[in-house]
Amino acid sequence: MTTVIDGKQVAASVIDAVKAASQTLQDETGIKTGLAVVIVGNDPASHAYVSAKSRMAKECGFTSVQHTLPEETTQEELAALVQTLNADESLHGILVQLPLPKHLKSEPIIQSILPEKDVDGLHVVNAGKVATGDLDGGLVSCTPAGAMVFVRRTHGEDLSGLNAVVIGRSNLFGKPMAQLLLAANATVTIAHSRTKDLPAVCHGADILVAAVGRPQMVKADWVKPGATVIDVGINRIAAPERGEGRFRLVGDVAFAECAEVAEVITPVPGGVGPMTIAMLMANTVIAAYRKAGKKAPKF
Ligand SMILES: NC(=O)c1ccc[n+]([C@@H]2O[C@H](COP(=O)([O-])OP(=O)(O)OC[C@H]3O[C@@H](n4cnc5c(N)ncnc54)[C@H](OP(=O)(O)O)[C@@H]3O)[C@@H](O)[C@H]2O)c1
Repeated sequence: MTTVIDGKQVAASVIDAVKAASQTLQDETGIKTGLAVVIVGNDPASHAYVSAKSRMAKECGFTSVQHTLPEETTQEELAALVQTLNADESLHGILVQLPLPKHLKSEPIIQSILPEKDVDGLHVVNAGKVATGDLDGGLVSCTPAGAMVFVRRTHGEDLSGLNAVVIGRSNLFGKPMAQLLLAANATVTIAHSRTKDLPAVCHGADILVAAVGRPQMVKADWVKPGATVIDVGINRIAAPERGEGRFRLVGDVAFAECAEVAEVITPVPGGVGPMTIAMLMANTVIAAYRKAGKKAPKF
């Protein structure tokens, strides 16, 4: 019987743990966890994400601060806001919603966030800590951290002897995901657009993670029978059956056929997606514990 992971349910369990941790911190030290979310411009999808993050932060019992800046904000103005947030002792996490409007450079902004407040896990210091296996010292990028919760709940903490294949080598997902699997003792292959015979490479995977951005690319005959398949892709495809001009979301995995072969699989939507915001909350409370000099909880 194939297990379809319910990402919403797992994310809700992480959020419950975050709420409990932030309450404990407040009871023991009087410190309230604080998250600042910054958005520039008018992109409707980004506004929806930011509202969801601010709402969830409040639900977790955090101080939640949202800065909504106009489209014409300059690089200097945005950099100055980050410096103010860096200096604000009541804030433990800073998130700048990406992508920024085209006239702004995101990299210098991300790198100007204090690494200990970089709850998106995108600062080079945090990426470097993940790369060197220092998982307790840095903040791990939210989507790979969320995908690893599924891996741990399926296979436990130690992946010794298991082969993992990650399709995709982005800094945002593929590379940190591979490093997290490696830190858990899996034997890891990173595949990408130049990989020869991708179906054969994938077929060797006990844990197959797809983060490509190509709708339903992974087919059933790429999947090793009994494998765990984690689909990170989010692709919008035409859905004429829902009416003219309508769309639906699919992953990078052809779900129905792969579910026949895999033992554990994540759906899209409702798989990895809900974990990203949950891990953002987890990173924020971890940052608050560290700032208070207390041992941070694990999620
Ligand atoms: N919250 C979430 O759930 C969440 C978060 C992040 C990303 N995502 C989704 O995950 C997907 C990947 O995101 P990303 O930011 O990592 O994307 P990305 O930066 O575009 O990277 C895509 C990777 O896929 C590889 N690739 C492209 N075509 C391929 C092919 N035909 N065969 C094998 N590999 C191929 C690319 O290889 P090269 O390096 O050789 O070009 C690249 O490494 C997207 O659908 C995105 O929307 C979801």
